Amino acid sequence: MNSAVLEGLPLTCETSEEWAPLALANLDQVLRDHAWCEYKAASAGLGLMARFPEHEFLHRPMVALVQEEMLHFRQVTDLLKERGVSLGPPPVDPYVKKLRGLLCAKGSGIGGLGDHLIVNAFVEARSCERFRVLARALESGPEADPDLSNFYQRLADAEGRHWESFRDLAMQVCDPAVVTRRISEAADIEADLLRSLPVEARMH
Ligand SMILES: [Fe+2]
Ligand SMILES: [Fe+2]
Repeated sequence: MNSAVLEGLPLTCETSEEWAPLALANLDQVLRDHAWCEYKAASAGLGLMARFPEHEFLHRPMVALVQEEMLHFRQVTDLLKERGVSLGPPPVDPYVKKLRGLLCAKGSGIGGLGDHLIVNAFVEARSCERFRVLARALESGPEADPDLSNFYQRLADAEGRHWESFRDLAMQVCDPAVVTRRISEAADIEADLLRSLPVEARMH
């Protein structure tokens, strides 16, 4: 697969073509969901430090991640404010919940912290892909919004870096060859999960 939206990512399937038009038609709803995704990404970084206190090497990269995700949260909530849209309560995220269940199931992965790092790596990678798709959809056509398109391109670049950071951290706790093999298995599991979920006006 050579699609530009998947470039540099571990993913094996692209987002359905139905998603971008649906997201553009319900942009406020997608932005609300997106704001909470940034919040949850920060919260996941904090959670890893508390859950694995023996792994002090996580502290610096997680603090940097949490700060960046909270900046994204602020940027998206600022956008909502400009649009006169309230944030509302956090929606449930079946994609992340199910992905965590599948990849962290006892005995199926590389164990403990490594599995959690790989879940986060895939959530970042899928977010990167969706942001690229959205940035492209906002580039031209009747719904074009060049500023928002650039914003999503910048965020896609950030999430692409985050996927690499989580992969590299996993390689610090497990044999890199084992991590590489697990990432390729996880890519198929993630693709099957994505295909099983309905296409909705949300980030995942
Ligand atoms: Fe982010
Ligand atoms: Fe991220």
